Amino acid sequence: MGKPRENKKKPQREGRVVTVGKAESVPPGRGATVKLSDGTEVAVFNIDGTFHAIENFCPHKGYPLADSRLRGPFVECDWHGWMFDVRSGVCFRDKRCSVESYRVETEDGWIKLHV
Ligand code: FES
Repeated sequence: MGKPRENKKKPQREGRVVTVGKAESVPPGRGATVKLSDGTEVAVFNIDGTFHAIENFCPHKGYPLADSRLRGPFVECDWHGWMFDVRSGVCFRDKRCSVESYRVETEDGWIKLHV
């Protein structure tokens, strides 16, 4: 498998809550790239109306997971098929390749991301 790649756009945990967009802009069963003001980014997914966020980076070769296919609560990387649980960031290929997950909530139709 090799060593997981480093995600240089991974947000640091700062105890902040950031409003990142309108909930209606990410329909159920879809993902979206959310760029933060410091140049970092996450992948936000809507699973049946509940939002989740993980790193927007597959540790295999770096493909953006927001652009990959959702299968229920799992995202399958478009490049080589690694699967991640968008609720936890766990990688099914190898747990050492799991990605960070971030808490998300919605309020008055806005997506709020905890970083
Ligand atoms: S980049 Fe290879 S599986 Fe994601």
